[in-house]
Amino acid sequence: MNEKQSALKTPVYNDRVVTLFALAAVLWGVVGMLVGVIIAAELAWPDLLGGIPWLSYGRLRPLHTNAVIFAFGGCALFATSYHVVQRTGQVRLFGGKLAEVTFWGWQLVIVSAALSLPLGYTTGKEYAELEWPIDILITLVWVAYAVVFFGTIGIRRVRHIYVANWFFGAMIIAVALLHLVNSAEIPVSAMKSYSAYAGVQDAMVQWWYGHNAVGFFLTAGFLGMMYYFIPKQAERPVYSYRLSIVHFWALIFTYMWAGPHHLHYTALPDWVQSIGMIFSLVLLAPSWGGMINGVMTLSGAWHKLRDDPILKFLIVSLSFYGMSTFEGPMMSIKTVNALSHYTDWTVGHVHSGALGWVGFISMGSLYYLIPRMFGRTQMYSVRAIELHFWIATIGVVLYIAAMWIAGVMQGLMWRAINPDGTLVYSFVESVKATYPFYVVRLLGGLLYLSGMLLMAWNVVMTVRGPGTAPAVRPVAAAA
Ligand code: HEM
Ligand code: HEM
Repeated sequence: MNEKQSALKTPVYNDRVVTLFALAAVLWGVVGMLVGVIIAAELAWPDLLGGIPWLSYGRLRPLHTNAVIFAFGGCALFATSYHVVQRTGQVRLFGGKLAEVTFWGWQLVIVSAALSLPLGYTTGKEYAELEWPIDILITLVWVAYAVVFFGTIGIRRVRHIYVANWFFGAMIIAVALLHLVNSAEIPVSAMKSYSAYAGVQDAMVQWWYGHNAVGFFLTAGFLGMMYYFIPKQAERPVYSYRLSIVHFWALIFTYMWAGPHHLHYTALPDWVQSIGMIFSLVLLAPSWGGMINGVMTLSGAWHKLRDDPILKFLIVSLSFYGMSTFEGPMMSIKTVNALSHYTDWTVGHVHSGALGWVGFISMGSLYYLIPRMFGRTQMYSVRAIELHFWIATIGVVLYIAAMWIAGVMQGLMWRAINPDGTLVYSFVESVKATYPFYVVRLLGGLLYLSGMLLMAWNVVMTVRGPGTAPAVRPVAAAA
């Protein structure tokens, strides 16, 4: 057999880039959550950091959101999508060194964000704060990502395209579209630009982007993880493959229209707000269809939940997904939104999705992936995974319960009116009443961060442990 034939028989996977992204996800998880804890403390004690401008709440808040979403979540998505597309296509990543270019390019985006946001450079658009030179860099890296991912689909050896890849692929295409449209801006200096849109159109484009960033970056990609890592860890096939296809098309169609629910009672035409509300309500169905498909994959294997902490992470993430995708449609109802908007209820909703769903599914997937990338059968300490699971679960519950109570309380206080039409409470009274809940949220955040630190320690011990296998292994050896 000549060299070419033997390479065809046993292609080697590019596990190096998967490993790099997986380790980066853990690192940026720690950093992003640490910044989350700092801003949570600043909300409880505003003078905590002595008024230093680049450590002020206004500058660190976007640093937190960018770090957890794009650095932690983004690296986890790159790692898992590259892993899944290779394993399910039985082929090495397309494009040679291009995959590694996406790694270093993405790290450059992250470092640029970490420098420019505290320095005060921002477009002011939520989740799209980075200034125009960084936007261009993001575009280049994302196009390279699309070339590697779809190129790999193109050269796959398995005829079928496994459903997880559909979700990853939709995420890549939708995020490209969202980023290009929302970041259309006119540069006026090296680090300052103005949006190409104005007034209510700007708001509409921004929340079309913002909501679909949730739908595609924080949901579709992570559903890709769900469809691969839950069946793998549970050693069961997906509950219903047909449902997964219906889930895919229904979800991506519906998400695109729901953005206006962020702009209720604004200058946006009322009918557009109503469309946003209706599509948000419809979104409950595909979201729960997907959740049920993931949870039911455990049929006949429920007992594994008892002593498999990775499965606990993966399945509990779906419970939080179900919770936040029930709560979201409810909050999109105009009369409910009249109470919830501007309050900490929104922040509670965000973090039940972000900590419970995005965080847990990523942690479960990374716990599956990392030991395999280093030729181990499991992580260094399974008990530490179990401990991480419980600390993190208590942390999320403290965080979201505190924000829900605070949010509903704020909404009710702001709308309470005396018989003569004056307000019952001044605004500052609602701030004072919120204080204890901010402290509880901080405690929840600290627990969640401690869990992440435990994970980082476990990863280091796994990597340093005995019997390291080469990062690039033949198909046959890589289960
Ligand atoms: C230790 C864990 C975390 C802590 C303590 C924390 C804390 C915070 C705080 C204090 C805010 C500002 C809330 C406000 O504006 O009143 C915030 C906002 C936000 N965080 Fe976190 N966070 C954590 C983890 C995460 C993770 C893992 C994600 C995403 C994967 C995330 C996504 C967000 C988003 C999207 C916002 C903006 C919310 C909004 O505009 O309503 N956070 N976080
Ligand atoms: C069926 C699914 C969902 C629907 C219909 C939905 C709906 C909503 C609504 C109505 C708001 C409040 C808008 C406002 O008053 O300004 C909101 C905010 C938000 N949701 Fe959801 N949600 C869903 C799922 C999720 C999930 C799974 C996540 C996270 C992974 C998430 C992340 C967010 C974020 C980050 C915001 C805050 C945006 C901001 O103001 O900065 N949502 N969502």
